[in-house]
Amino acid sequence: MLRRLAPHQPESFAFTPANRAWAEAQITKYPPGRQASAIIPLLWRAQEQEGWLTRPAIEHVADMLGMAYIRALEVATFYFMFQLHPTGSVAHVQVCGTTSCMIMGAEDLAAVCERRIGKPHHTSADGKFSWEEVECLGACANAPMAQIGKDYYEDLTPEILERLLDDLAAGKVPTPGPQQGRFASEPSGGATSLRDSAGAPEPHNGSVALALAVGDTVKRIDGTEVPLTAPWQGKAG
Ligand code: FES
Repeated sequence: MLRRLAPHQPESFAFTPANRAWAEAQITKYPPGRQASAIIPLLWRAQEQEGWLTRPAIEHVADMLGMAYIRALEVATFYFMFQLHPTGSVAHVQVCGTTSCMIMGAEDLAAVCERRIGKPHHTSADGKFSWEEVECLGACANAPMAQIGKDYYEDLTPEILERLLDDLAAGKVPTPGPQQGRFASEPSGGATSLRDSAGAPEPHNGSVALALAVGDTVKRIDGTEVPLTAPWQGKAG
C-alpha cells in the first residue's frame, strides 16, 4: 500500500508546553550524537497531540533531532502506526483484512465502515470517524476483528460493529475484547481441554498444576521422580 502525506496540510506544528517538555526529556535518554533514536516516541507524541501526523509535525520533530527531513519522512511513512491522513475525532477503526479475518467476514465489516464512515483514510461527514483496512493484527483466533483506537474488538459481526460505532458516536466506550461471550481465544463452544475429571475448568495451568503435584517447587531432581522413558530407543529408524 502506498503511504503518502495528505494533500492538505496545516501551516505549522508546535508541541504543547507539556508535550515539548516530555519530548525534550526523551531526547536526553540517548548519548550525544544519537538523538535521532528518539524519533519514534516524538512522532508518536505529535500524533497523539494532533490525532494524525502532519508534515509540519514531522519536520518539527526532525528539526528537534537535527535530522534531515527525508530521514524523518522515511520513518513516518514506513510504520503503519503513524496516520498520515486526518482521523476521526472520536475513533479511527482499523479492520483486519488478512487471511483468518477475511475468511471469517472481514469484507462485511469493511462494508459497514464504507457505508457508515465513507472511503478509507477519509473522515466521516460528521468528522467523528475514519477507518482503514490493515494487515494481520495478531488476534487471528478471534477473527474477524478490528482495532478501534488502541483497543482490540474481536469476534465481530456486521451487527456488532454497527453497535460499537453507535456506542462510540453516543460518547460511550464499549468494552474491548471478544464480543460474543468468549473470555479470550478458547474454542467458541467453550474450553475442551484443561478440565478436571468432572468437566470443570482446571484451576491452574499445566506448569502450576505439576508444581503443586510435586509439592515442592524448589526440590532438586534426586531420582525419585517418575523416570523419563524413551520408548523409541533401540528401535530401527
Ligand atoms: S488475520 Fe486478522 S488478526 Fe490475524
